[in-house]
Amino acid sequence: MSDPVLEFRAVIKRFGAVNAVDGVSFSIAPGEVFTLLGPSGCGKTTTLRLVAGLEEPDGGEILIRGSAVAAPARGLFAAPEKRQLGMVFQSYAIWPHLSVFENVAFPLRVRKESQDNVRKRVLQALDVVGLGGLAERGATQLSGGQQQRVALARALVYEPAILLLDEPLSNLDAKLREQMRVEIRALQKKLGLTVLYVTHDQAEAMTLSDRIAVVNRGRFEQIGAPEEVYEKPATLFVAEFLGRTVSFEGKVAKSVAGCWIEFANGAGRCALTGALSKAMTDALTDGAMARVFTRPEDVEISASGGGKANQLAGTIEQVAYLGDRFEYHVKAAGVSLVLLAPKKQRFNAGDLVQLTLDPARLNVRPV
Ligand SMILES: Nc1ncnc2c1ncn2[C@@H]1O[C@H](COP(=O)(O)OP(=O)(O)OP(=O)(O)O)[C@@H](O)[C@H]1O
Ligand SMILES: [Mg+2]
Repeated sequence: MSDPVLEFRAVIKRFGAVNAVDGVSFSIAPGEVFTLLGPSGCGKTTTLRLVAGLEEPDGGEILIRGSAVAAPARGLFAAPEKRQLGMVFQSYAIWPHLSVFENVAFPLRVRKESQDNVRKRVLQALDVVGLGGLAERGATQLSGGQQQRVALARALVYEPAILLLDEPLSNLDAKLREQMRVEIRALQKKLGLTVLYVTHDQAEAMTLSDRIAVVNRGRFEQIGAPEEVYEKPATLFVAEFLGRTVSFEGKVAKSVAGCWIEFANGAGRCALTGALSKAMTDALTDGAMARVFTRPEDVEISASGGGKANQLAGTIEQVAYLGDRFEYHVKAAGVSLVLLAPKKQRFNAGDLVQLTLDPARLNVRPV
């Protein structure tokens, strides 16, 4: 792997008693999109501000392109303007009294670039974000999505070593967010940008990122590719934060023939052998209680009476029509869960159904 563009070594940032960033280490490779994903207050913005030099760490080291920019133990701290970064803030603040051109030109004017250079680079940046014809427009005469692009152009205009994006799509409606997500990814690939991206939106993180760090109370719970953190969550927090999980409790039945879990109320049973790691089934005792976890999209719903393996009996409690599909509230083995199903599968409240679990997509833990 080529040398990292950004590296954190056991970085700590405290605000009074709060450890906003709690001993975090990671590095980002050139051309990579690295996303911090986590709930409100977990330390995402603080991490970006540490990179940008808007906060000083209390411990650890931060390196950009191999040079330390913050190392409190050595009394080292490089000012923001020495770090060659571009940032789009959570509230992306473009200046309403300036034209689109002047908004984007601002970082170059601060750096006292020549008039010619400013003109050339601003027009280039506007082209890149698809605002080529709008340079002279007043910034407030733009749609939300266009304003977002102005903020992006302003962050790109001096070819930053790292682009820092803090929830850059948070002010847009759902449709525009989806569109901008795709556009940002395409732009990043085209320009080979290295990006540190912050969001609490799972879909955004999944579509944009090469790697995701799931953040919880100032700590990184897991770092991995999108599929990896989704399919193989390292902790319960990651599993629950990324998508939804459903779980059922039952009794373990272990014999030479294999390992099974038998659900409450005689609702059915499911094989635990095969896909699960040996360590996971070894941790189970015959006759003891255990809990299986799976994703709702991996639970298949079908009419009662199929008699296939790995099924649980359930009852439809409520049906919601979502336009493009149905949402079924189902009760099975004493658990209420919500499942989505295509429109052609039509059930009514009170119907008895079978839920088929996929043993290849289960996790199990002793209770
Ligand atoms: N300047 C500050 N002074 C005191 N506490 C702060 C300061 N900035 C952040 N914090 C605290 O540090 C923690 C992390 O805040 P941060 O803004 O990094 O969270 P975040 O993950 O960006 O959240 P959000 O998704 O809501 O933007 C929070 O508990 C917050 O209250
Ligand atoms: Mg924030």
